[in-house]
Amino acid sequence: MNTKQTYISEIGGHLGEEVAIKGWLYNKRSSGKLGFLEIRDGSGLIQGVVSKKDVSDSTWDASERATQESSIIVRGAPREHPKKPGVYELDVHELEIVQLAHEYPITPKEHGVEFLMDHRHLWLRSRRQQAILRVRHEIIRAVRDFFDDDGFILCDTPIFTPAACEGTTTLFEVDYFEDKAYLTQSGQLYNEATAAAFGKVYCFGPTFRAEKSKTRRHLTEFWMVEPEVAYAKLDDIMTLAERFLSSIVGRVLDRRKEELKQLERDTAQLEKIVPPFPRLQYDDAVKLLQQGHAEGNLESRFEWGGDLGSPDETYLSGLYDKPVMVHRYPAAVKAFYMESDPDRPDLALCVDVLAPEGYGEVIGGGERAASLELLMQRINEHGLPESAFDWYLDLRKYGSVPHAGFGMGIERAVTWICGLEHVRETIPFPRMLYRLKP
Ligand code: 4AD
Ligand code: MG
Repeated sequence: MNTKQTYISEIGGHLGEEVAIKGWLYNKRSSGKLGFLEIRDGSGLIQGVVSKKDVSDSTWDASERATQESSIIVRGAPREHPKKPGVYELDVHELEIVQLAHEYPITPKEHGVEFLMDHRHLWLRSRRQQAILRVRHEIIRAVRDFFDDDGFILCDTPIFTPAACEGTTTLFEVDYFEDKAYLTQSGQLYNEATAAAFGKVYCFGPTFRAEKSKTRRHLTEFWMVEPEVAYAKLDDIMTLAERFLSSIVGRVLDRRKEELKQLERDTAQLEKIVPPFPRLQYDDAVKLLQQGHAEGNLESRFEWGGDLGSPDETYLSGLYDKPVMVHRYPAAVKAFYMESDPDRPDLALCVDVLAPEGYGEVIGGGERAASLELLMQRINEHGLPESAFDWYLDLRKYGSVPHAGFGMGIERAVTWICGLEHVRETIPFPRMLYRLKP
């Protein structure tokens, strides 16, 4: 077959031509005279129609023999569907089997999630998973474009690190020659160094947390994008966060309509994501949570001083139709590097952005302690080894400025924007407490 390969996504531009599709058999049915093949090639799906009387015996025979997920090369003529404008079909002239697939474990019938996760390497071929991962790709492109177009410099940060950034209880330790190293929990500390060099920076890479929690929001390996801005204050970073999230959601609405439809996402909810977002001080969030408990909508009563748990976040984010920015948590429940509120030194100048519809935290960030004294005090209070942070403390000795930034977990954002139940489907190969394979 010498006909030029055409991708299904581009088939509309090749009507009336003879094309070759190189792909796999997704599904099929046959009447004995007519075969209907659903063919996928990674770019899309198309129905191929094989008519016994119009093709060679070998092509007819191959179409009858081909099993689900057999790799096939099909030659034929695309045409518009007689009743559905914009939908194309292929009149199959020739079909060649590249490899006849063994009996495929994933059939159109229902499977349990654990079974599907065990077969993740194959599950990725299904329509729904493709839609989710295409949205993920669009979000990543939108993230990069947003920062690149806004004067940020991409500065990659290391994965092997000598110390904790987000608390010692979720560190993955690895042997590093004669020494110990940890897989990075966040690029933030390095961002603070590059922000002092370049002003506005971001890093974007895999991050690791030895989370023992088995929730629908936690992975042990996830991708985080983190901007950091010199001279920015808490308010500036909140404004950046709302512009950023609105831009990403808008981009997906604009370019991934088909995928959102496939996922049955209620896009009216996403259309509402435009600045400004509500800003809620932690103190007031506590009042709302206590009221929610009093009204019987929240099981346990929240006490001032704690960090918000998943049910609290779900409840709060259900109260708004836009992301809500909860700021100024008690310093005691937040990371060591937080700047304290000059009016209330027991509070940290930090923000968590909770996505609506009960999705919970998608962004965490804030202003960083700018003074050497406060930072050293916090390092000691958190029982962190000062020696591992000497380079970080240098940043407070040589031209320290107010600065702020945040981190967004890509998988949390994809979960929310796609409207999914669980974060596990938002990354090709999720890593979780009980999942290291495939
Ligand atoms: O709130 P976190 O822990 O903040 C930081 O790491 C800061 N150093 C970021 C910064 O200011 N530069 O994590 C930030 C975001 C969360 O809001 C969430 O979206 C995601 O990272 N995240 C996780 N996503 C999936 N699984 C986990 N275990 C996650 N932990 C955090
Ligand atoms: Mg957080």
